[in-house]
Amino acid sequence: MSSPVFTPITLGNMTLPNRIIMAPLTRMRAVQPGDIPAPISQTYYEQRATAGLIISEASQISPQGKGYMATPGIYSAEQVQGWKSVTQAVHKAGGRMAIQLWHVGRVSHHSLQPNQQLPVSASALPYENKTTIMGADGKPTRVACDTPRALETHEIPELIASYHKATELSREAGFDMVEVHAAHGYLLHQFQSAESNHRTDIYGGSLENRARLTLEALDASLSAWDAQHVGIRISPLGIFNGLNDRDGEAMGLYLAEEFQKRKIAYLHISEPDWAGGPVLSDEFRKAMRSRFSGVIIGAGNYTLEKATRMIESGYIDAAAFGRPYIANPDLVRRLQEGAALNPTRPELFYGGNEEGYTDYPFLA
Ligand code: PHB
Repeated sequence: MSSPVFTPITLGNMTLPNRIIMAPLTRMRAVQPGDIPAPISQTYYEQRATAGLIISEASQISPQGKGYMATPGIYSAEQVQGWKSVTQAVHKAGGRMAIQLWHVGRVSHHSLQPNQQLPVSASALPYENKTTIMGADGKPTRVACDTPRALETHEIPELIASYHKATELSREAGFDMVEVHAAHGYLLHQFQSAESNHRTDIYGGSLENRARLTLEALDASLSAWDAQHVGIRISPLGIFNGLNDRDGEAMGLYLAEEFQKRKIAYLHISEPDWAGGPVLSDEFRKAMRSRFSGVIIGAGNYTLEKATRMIESGYIDAAAFGRPYIANPDLVRRLQEGAALNPTRPELFYGGNEEGYTDYPFLA
């Protein structure tokens, strides 16, 4: 099929051969202890190197940023070594790769936290959500998240510094870019939403104050790497992880203006309908487009048809595919040839080994 999806695009200082992005996907296979990217992840990502850009699974910027079993980190020397092997494999196969920088905030459980402490958030509010820890049998088990404790104002500079450090380590590990994860009900989104943020300091109250932590985290990344190498992901109106993002449109528009001022390489919008949220209106898409002139990546339940329509409408410039990329390492070719897609095996999404990870077949 002829579609703008298969045409090149400039992203930062790179030219992507197509506009099909591998979305960040949590797979929970990091080596324990230490949350080190596993050797099998080299094969997994290398298999997907024909994507215009691979965005890594979300990777915690500190031990406190962890919220699920066996997710990889980007704060230790061992993790940098592990990632280096991954980026080398991807580059050797002709691909490009960004890393997603993650702090889960309250989407965690004390058993995953340093010294079994409570997870942190904007405010100490109970909420309904589950996360995944390692059961006694070594298999993923779902548990209720703890009610978090509120971050003290004096703890925030250290938190911000961890975004700077993680960006430095990402460069050292050979990534082509970093993506700040400010979506999906994780820490930065918890600060954005008036529902989860009841703070009375400069990080709470007005919309500008609630956006502050997101922008300071972004600026911390930008203090470690220039704007050509930094993108961000947000999910306006997203309800994933029990978040209520009722003024998400106003927040999204404000953030887009601030991203524009910083000339970051891309704005990645995760559309809420993939997780049971609303479908974004065309009006909102247009308003976001008018505020941000860099590359916009759309994500969430994308098909080739949706990607083509959204790019032709001018709302986005590239499309990220998540679940289809789990099951189709050669997704670009399959879409181009109109070939059938392999079905996913959701019971193998999280944890485990090669099965459901590197064993999905390529087209003959
Ligand atoms: C997940 O583990 O299900 C997950 C992680 C990060 C996201 C979304 C989902 O941004």
